[in-house]
Amino acid sequence: MDLNNNLNKILIIDFGSQFTQLIARRIRELGVYSEIISHKKLSSNLNKPDVKGIILSGGPLNVYQSKKVKFRKDIFKWKIPILGICFGHQVISKELGGRVKKAKSREFGLAKLKRIRECKLTDNFFDKNGLNNVWMSHSDEVIKLAKGFKIVAKTETSKFSVVENSIKKFYGIQFHPEVTHTKNGKVILKNFIFSICRIKKNWSSKNQRLMLVKDIKKNVGKSKVICALSGGVDSSVVAKLIHNAIGKQLTCVFVNTGLLRKNEEKQVVKTFRKKFKINLIYVDAKNFFLNKLKNVKDPEKKRKIIGNLFIKIFEKYAKKIKNVRYLAQGTLYPDLIESKSVTGSQTSKIKSHHNVGGLPKKMKLKLVEPLKLLFKDEVRKLGLELKLSKEIVLRHPFPGPGLAIRIPGEITKDKVKILKDADDIFINALRDHNLYKDIWQAYAALLPVKTVGVMGDNRTYEYMCLLRAITSEDGMTADTFNFKKEFMQLVSNKIINNIKGINRVVYDITSKPPSTIELE
Ligand code: XMP
Repeated sequence: MDLNNNLNKILIIDFGSQFTQLIARRIRELGVYSEIISHKKLSSNLNKPDVKGIILSGGPLNVYQSKKVKFRKDIFKWKIPILGICFGHQVISKELGGRVKKAKSREFGLAKLKRIRECKLTDNFFDKNGLNNVWMSHSDEVIKLAKGFKIVAKTETSKFSVVENSIKKFYGIQFHPEVTHTKNGKVILKNFIFSICRIKKNWSSKNQRLMLVKDIKKNVGKSKVICALSGGVDSSVVAKLIHNAIGKQLTCVFVNTGLLRKNEEKQVVKTFRKKFKINLIYVDAKNFFLNKLKNVKDPEKKRKIIGNLFIKIFEKYAKKIKNVRYLAQGTLYPDLIESKSVTGSQTSKIKSHHNVGGLPKKMKLKLVEPLKLLFKDEVRKLGLELKLSKEIVLRHPFPGPGLAIRIPGEITKDKVKILKDADDIFINALRDHNLYKDIWQAYAALLPVKTVGVMGDNRTYEYMCLLRAITSEDGMTADTFNFKKEFMQLVSNKIINNIKGINRVVYDITSKPPSTIELE
């Protein structure tokens, strides 16, 4: 994305680290605009006066592979502060006369960093004993410092873990301050941008909105755009943002699969068609989905059927709009990061994820993905800035296949109705007790097991409802939320007293791993 602006910025030169985007995110969180540029693309027409500081990222290369490590070496003469992180630290050392070698022992994971001397970069970073836990990931190391540099901190295996040339304002750190595993890592970036680069705050959701709108206008021109709207946060923000940019050139397609949360379809129509006056095609495909899912019990089959049906329906309706050239998607930055764990190992496929993004590849439409450099929390802020309601913006995540994966086994119309009502009671109780915002995701599921109960003087033989509520940062790992017993009893009573078909409520106390958040 070419933001094409004249804002003062921190320029991040990317050498291919999987954390480069995180550096940008942290700096933006601190209220300063940052831009990432590949080391191969650092052109000569870069607007230098806007660049108030440079960060050289980590990366998988070795500094002694000099053919591959190409970048504009004149940056060291620009007289602006430079911070090298991990590989970037090694680049600075090597370029300015130090030496880098393969380390005797690689250093991955947590390391204890010890302060040797005070330095602006590490102000308020260490504990009172001059120690801090930092996260390392490197197999090369600096073995000789460049001229004018001093050691600021070291670990047991890495003598030059933090180094500085305070006259030139060049800094090198071997660990990664941008990952949450490094305690207080943000302090390092804060010190660099504010105390060392002396840049002023200039980045907010408002800036972001204005720039994205400008960018969409410029890229799309007079063409038409379609957007698959699910009612979730990401597609809602995309729709509103694009509508702000190009108005009636946008048409949204909303497919009611019948597997949405209670009254969700009504809310989508009310918000987007009635309130925001966005062109919206509403497709009622409830029966279609139910028919295709008849007798299907296997979770993966369910997911595939739903994903494919969705594409088919979406394509059918999209074709009805003439002269469409673009498809808008709510792709976020985490969707683009290769699914690698922090240790670098490839994760195996657990479930075939489906969402309204990443859809019709066959349609030969160009993609508009305005959120692709943003993280979920940034998207939420942007949503509020776009005047979407808090209810939409702060809503818990909801999976593409919807309630289908919260009804293990066969799905029927009756089961879906029972589940929608139970889920609604649970979620409303969370809102009423001011717990909703403390929970990352909560839902009710309907288990395909009938058990015996007694209501009044009568025997009942009905389904079991499972409640799940988790805390998480990104959905990759999760812990269960601890409710008070009274709250659980209240919800359980309300569900059993109000919904015919459920006579037992259980709470899922497993974390992820070993369980997943959804049941299927
Ligand atoms: P799991 O069950 O994999 O869920 O632990 C992690 C997060 O992903 C959501 N989820 C999905 N989201 N399409 C989506 O858009 C899907 O197919 C899908 N499956 C799971 C889930 O709700 C949780 O937030």
